[in-house]
Amino acid sequence: MLIKRTASIRSSEITPEDIYLNRRTFIGKSIGVAALLNTGVLSSFSAIAGRPYEIDPDIPTYRGPGWLEKTLDNLQAGPFRTDEELTPYLDVIRYNNFYEFGSDKQDPAKNAQAFKTDPWSVEIAGEALKTGVFHLEDILKPHALEERIYRLRCVEAWSMVVPWVGFSMGELLKRFEPTSKAKYVEFTTLVDKEQMSGQASAFSTIDWPYVEGLRMDEAMHPLSIFAVGLYGRAMPPQNGAPLRIVIPWKYGFKSIKSIVKIRFTEQAPVNTWQQIAPREYGFYANVNPAVDHPRWSQKLERRLPSTLFDRNTMQTLPFNGYAEQVAQLYSGMDLTKWF
Ligand code: MTE
Repeated sequence: MLIKRTASIRSSEITPEDIYLNRRTFIGKSIGVAALLNTGVLSSFSAIAGRPYEIDPDIPTYRGPGWLEKTLDNLQAGPFRTDEELTPYLDVIRYNNFYEFGSDKQDPAKNAQAFKTDPWSVEIAGEALKTGVFHLEDILKPHALEERIYRLRCVEAWSMVVPWVGFSMGELLKRFEPTSKAKYVEFTTLVDKEQMSGQASAFSTIDWPYVEGLRMDEAMHPLSIFAVGLYGRAMPPQNGAPLRIVIPWKYGFKSIKSIVKIRFTEQAPVNTWQQIAPREYGFYANVNPAVDHPRWSQKLERRLPSTLFDRNTMQTLPFNGYAEQVAQLYSGMDLTKWF
């Protein structure tokens, strides 16, 4: 398949790390009304990449654990960011796919509020020298948090621009010393039917846990991140607290949420959507306007916020506009076959 260079991606997208956040200029840093939720106390965040962004004071924002709050104070502007308009905070936290909490877009925001994300541990398993169960805090300690402003393109043909808080996936994976047999990495979401109403539902078609996977070179690519927050704050539960991944050149379903296990494997993992509908969803799931979903076109996307009446549509770009950075990972592969 011909892979186009994306002229429409601005050169400012890859910028030296010359701008640092001064999060101490927060207006009205708050006292929480509940352990997780703050309401009506934060009105805006400081400038990131030279640009202020705002959160309406009536919208709840999320407090992570104390140890995360401290790291958020040292947030840096990461090397990859788009200068496209950000999707408003409210749309990012109220229009979600997180089937563990229900299948409607508003379900996760409604049903995940009491989700307990601290303490949290992650198991590292498989083809690596260092394996075991680790506290999330210990896993994250050596990593400086960055802001990465990425496009997120869902396979359902809607998209957002989100300022994620995270750090390079490769930097973390390397610490566990994957062996030469580690060709892939598999990620698994928590199973907890008591907390996750979607997992308890008799109508669920998913064989839990939700599983995703990447080839090692994809996981080690500098665009791949682990994310622990967005909009300068801790990750809301509906967006995958306390730890998710974000792979911006792939359809959103690859960006698995609330991860409890990372396993290095020799064989390609079977990801959840591939298992449910192999004709419709593959392992790679690279954003590709030239390969339609069997039931709809992938040529256009609806950028949020938008409604069915006010369709804010735009062309979908190969690899979601990141072809220049990632196309070489797939050279020689027929991407109509490896979809
Ligand atoms: N991870 C888990 N565990 N469960 C899910 O249902 N949905 C995926 C992905 N990660 C999903 C998941 C899909 S389809 C998308 S588009 C993105 O999360 C949406 O992320 P967002 O809700 O933060 O926008």
